[in-house]
Amino acid sequence: MSQIPHHIAIVMDGNGRWASKRFLPRIAGHKQGVDSLRRCVRTAGQRGVKVLTVFAFSSENWNRPIDEVSGLMDLFAMALGREVPQLKADGVRIFFVGERAGLSAKVTAGIEQAESATASNSRLILNVCFNYGGRWDIVQAAAKLAAKGQVVTEQALSAAMALAHVPDPDLVVRTGGEQRISNFMLWQSAYSEFYFSDKLWPEFDEAELDRAIASFNQRERRFGKTSDQIAAQVPVDRNS
Ligand code: IPE
Ligand code: IPE
Ligand code: MG
Repeated sequence: MSQIPHHIAIVMDGNGRWASKRFLPRIAGHKQGVDSLRRCVRTAGQRGVKVLTVFAFSSENWNRPIDEVSGLMDLFAMALGREVPQLKADGVRIFFVGERAGLSAKVTAGIEQAESATASNSRLILNVCFNYGGRWDIVQAAAKLAAKGQVVTEQALSAAMALAHVPDPDLVVRTGGEQRISNFMLWQSAYSEFYFSDKLWPEFDEAELDRAIASFNQRERRFGKTSDQIAAQVPVDRNS
């Protein structure tokens, strides 16, 4: 029986290379990346995925050339305005995860509008990690606990994280051929399965998402236990 991962997280990498291969400016790859994300959200919803988390802009991406950074910010604000009505109609609830300070008023307004417009949806949660880093999240969670004088436990830290509203990802996908985490979901991916795809993000399609899910289904998640223990366990269906 094929199991659909409850939560899939994706490092959408390879937009720049997709554009360079076609002698196009890098921003053309990012534009194509938005189309790929729209398709991916639709497919994930159809397959029964409940949470999709995507890495759109990292804490470190500010170090790119200024033209690319401002192009990404403009594209982000534009895509937000354009995509939200359809996402809303499709039952998608959007959350933005990341440091808001340092974002322009236009981007911040777009984020707030998208979150409030989709707040009553529940078919699929879409977390867009923007100005996000796994280290940032751990540090801001620790700072929250410290400010309240709370004891640091795994549970307390998890609850203070920016991604506390969703369970940890079952499957983390990275496109673009690199096999690294690049500061994505450092805390939450402790027991995630990984799928590295050679496809560049603009080329990531339904078939590749299905391959990632099929690969996930071949894995035995042991969480530190033995195979025999896992085999004796009664399966739990989180989606029912
Ligand atoms: C990922 O694609 C998107 C962002 C980081 C914003 P890249 O822009 O990193 O594409 P490559 O890795 O240079 O091909
Ligand atoms: C990771 O991709 C960040 C996003 C996809 C938003 P990068 O392209 O920034 O990662 P590195 O620099 O190759 O590790
Ligand atoms: Mg990259």
